[in-house]
Amino acid sequence: MVNATPPPPIALHRPDVSPADLAALSPLLESGLLVQGPVVAAFEAAMARAAARAHAVAVSNGTSALELTLAALGIAADAEVLVPALTWPSPAHAVCLRGAKPRFVDVHPTRWNSEAAAFARARTPQTRAAIVIPQFGNPVDVGAIQAALPGVTLLIDGACVFGSRLHGAPATASLPGLGGDVPLTLSFHPRKVLTTGEGGMILTDDAAFAETLRTLRNHGLGPAGTFLRPGGNSRLTELGAALGLQQLPRLEGVLAQRRAQRAYYAERLPAGMLQEAIEGALPNAQSIGLVLGDSGARDALLAQANAQGVGIGRLSYCLPLLPSLAAYGSVDTVPEAARIARCGVTLPCHTGLTSADQDRVIALVHNALAM
Ligand SMILES: Cc1ncc(COP(=O)(O)O)c(C=O)c1O
Repeated sequence: MVNATPPPPIALHRPDVSPADLAALSPLLESGLLVQGPVVAAFEAAMARAAARAHAVAVSNGTSALELTLAALGIAADAEVLVPALTWPSPAHAVCLRGAKPRFVDVHPTRWNSEAAAFARARTPQTRAAIVIPQFGNPVDVGAIQAALPGVTLLIDGACVFGSRLHGAPATASLPGLGGDVPLTLSFHPRKVLTTGEGGMILTDDAAFAETLRTLRNHGLGPAGTFLRPGGNSRLTELGAALGLQQLPRLEGVLAQRRAQRAYYAERLPAGMLQEAIEGALPNAQSIGLVLGDSGARDALLAQANAQGVGIGRLSYCLPLLPSLAAYGSVDTVPEAARIARCGVTLPCHTGLTSADQDRVIALVHNALAM
């Protein structure tokens, strides 16, 4: 009897960690200085340069970055904040935790981002702010959204967008012509193109705003050592910052590999199922989403992948369908977000992935589509 060895599992994501990254951690552990010290400051300076922003404030994760930014913008009880309906729940939860109300905005059918026209349609006289999300790292035209929402404060939840480019510049940069500072938050969760374990950052061009955020992330402690306002603890560790600093010089190589993997999938999968980009955008391939024609094929694909240890996961969430957010809107007003959440998956993409792994993923997709 032949005992066939099952093929090895394929991870959905895996952080790019080198021996030099590991070596950078030992001296820090020996120093005893583990939390928000000189390495965090150096990481902030390096990130501000790479992201083309004047100030970078490191925090403990991308969700804290959103919560602190909303607090620093003065978003308070009963304010209405527009939030894309297709995303991880963090931005909407952050709005609720301020006592404010998220209002959901539908997404573009092929770019999967909430864009200017949809924001304008969702706006009401109560709208105070809007969260713009370059979903899965796919750049959005923030200038068009700002023009469509006069008088509304914008912030960008750029959790996934670090490394993407728009019109030749980092997509994290303030675009010329954009009125005022539009703060942008980042996440360094292990699924992102650069990771600090848990970690996040707020990018801004406004020095006073950055100072407020620095106070808010550290118990309300101001630069002169006085507690200026009630604040929590959202500090980043020195260990996380050291990992981030190590990875930054490798970023372009990591992005090139990820974009090549995306191109490999695109050449071998049916046209029209991958996320499309606006003109002038070069996404970072942070997540490679695929939207199938119906939820039956999607569910079959997830089941088969799971049975074979292949890390194909569901793509994202339609927020009004979540019990935590159902009170704030109806799925009927966001049909595209509902369809994409129902029929979408995310495909493995990381520097440890081989073309043989990708071929197995592609075969699974074709198999599900043929059922
Ligand atoms: C759009 C968006 N916002 C916020 C977050 C939360 O980031 P974190 O996991 O670092 O808290 C995520 C997580 O992936 C995200 O995709």
